[in-house]
Amino acid sequence: MSSSIYENLGAQSAQFIRAEHRMLIGGRWVEAFSGKTFDVFDPGTGEVVACVPEGEAADIDLAVQAARRAFEAGDWARMKPADRTRLLLRLADLIERHGDELAEIEAVDNGKPLAVARRGIAGTAEMVRYMAGWATKLNGESVNLSVPGEWHAYTTREAVGVVGQIIPWNFPLSMAIWKIAPALTVGCTVVLKPAEQTPLNALRLGQIIQEAGFPDGVVNIVTGFGATAGAALAAHPDVDKVAFTGSTETGKRVIQAALGNLKKVSLELGGKSPVFVFPDANLELATPGAANAIFFNSGQVCSAGSRLFVHKTVFDRVIEGVIEHGNKLKVGHGLDPASQVGPLISRQQKQRVDGYIRQGEEEGARRFGEQRAFDAGGYFVAPTVFVDTTPDMSIYREEIFGPVVCAMPFDDDDLDRIAAEANRTEFGLFAGIWTQKLGLAHKLARRIKAGSVSVNAHMVNEPALPFGGYKQSGWGRERGREVFDLYTSVKSIAINLD
Ligand code: NAI
Ligand code: MG
Repeated sequence: MSSSIYENLGAQSAQFIRAEHRMLIGGRWVEAFSGKTFDVFDPGTGEVVACVPEGEAADIDLAVQAARRAFEAGDWARMKPADRTRLLLRLADLIERHGDELAEIEAVDNGKPLAVARRGIAGTAEMVRYMAGWATKLNGESVNLSVPGEWHAYTTREAVGVVGQIIPWNFPLSMAIWKIAPALTVGCTVVLKPAEQTPLNALRLGQIIQEAGFPDGVVNIVTGFGATAGAALAAHPDVDKVAFTGSTETGKRVIQAALGNLKKVSLELGGKSPVFVFPDANLELATPGAANAIFFNSGQVCSAGSRLFVHKTVFDRVIEGVIEHGNKLKVGHGLDPASQVGPLISRQQKQRVDGYIRQGEEEGARRFGEQRAFDAGGYFVAPTVFVDTTPDMSIYREEIFGPVVCAMPFDDDDLDRIAAEANRTEFGLFAGIWTQKLGLAHKLARRIKAGSVSVNAHMVNEPALPFGGYKQSGWGRERGREVFDLYTSVKSIAINLD
């Protein structure tokens, strides 16, 4: 860490980042079985800031064994729901207490501006608290039978067992918590594989989980690459369930790997989400709303509003506003307090997004958004707006995962046609609707094939709202009460009383 920007780090986060990192298996901090490590890059400078163990199949196996032991016997297996609630609430408090440090680590590991990271961390603490409350409330029910005789029948909800969780790099701490918190709420044990680009906060979280007092082996964290550690976790015969967030392509690989023991699979995958602006919308809110829908987190958001449909009567006004909003955003290193948007996660992602931008221009779309000179080394991309895009263009169809939006005018009042165009995608994660007409909003929301819809807002980050995809955006719902369907099995018990 040689850049002067690291002077902005607090003592604790600087010390953590520089430390010799190990992985958490069965309550112990260990090196990889092979002894190998890999480098972690700061996407804002391109510098190597840390190196972490390169876990592979052997390490995954040890972690799964530890998770199995903790699931089948010991303090965790016997723990009462109220005690799990208490532990989770303690974890939430500790996340909050260490909030500044976690935000600084996130700013270096992922590139997020500090203020954005800080808000995200407050959100993760709330997520843990929301989940914690359910531990004492997830009951089965009694069932009235119609077969002859006198019966007592009931259902129970049981923890599914050892859970493998594979997460991406776009929200490293939040993704870890979205996965771990509901699994622990119901009494599962976990092997978490963070993304190779962003392993640091998962490891810091592992320390905090220990500080909270969770028994050994309940949460195991193995750092490593997808093709080795990730694939081994998805394929492991003693893992009961795998929960994955990432690309649709890798999600399909996870399904294949899970075939061996038919482990349960849930997937949060890509998106190409539409945002609609109707002429009656409050454009003072809709315009920055549509801009943030794509520029927030440099567009590295599965639910990013990457297709912007604006009614032709207000198209020029809204699009000019979105372009201006993008031009004004301060893009810079996460530790620079002035930054509003950070870099992309890696050189590879920058090349990929730059490639889409070039392709868009070659295919005939018109590009807007100031070209800028960025600090050398960082993986920055300026906010970019394309108009004159058509459905056959790759930028219109594919998930770019960068600050790049395709804007299209619509001149139709037929909601079926508007929805059909928006639904013409393999994805179905999210849609945003800006209008003051209540009936229109409800009608369009019904017609959209997506797991979440926001009206006059983009994305509500609320733990009580289920989140997940239609079509190739995934299987299952995270957050809300629905998440427990992913981590529990229902058992029915019928007792003949005669
Ligand atoms: P990826 O889906 O390959 O990686 C996500 C996670 O899966 C990482 O932890 C990775 O190590 C793991 N992984 C990779 N291959 C695996 C395998 N064969 N078995 C098990 N786990 C595996 O995403 P990647 O390559 O980092 O990014 C490529 C594109 O994916 C992005 O440009 C973006 O379009 C999309 N993406 C979407 C995300 C979302 O939230 N919807 C998040 C990250 C990426
Ligand atoms: Mg990949």
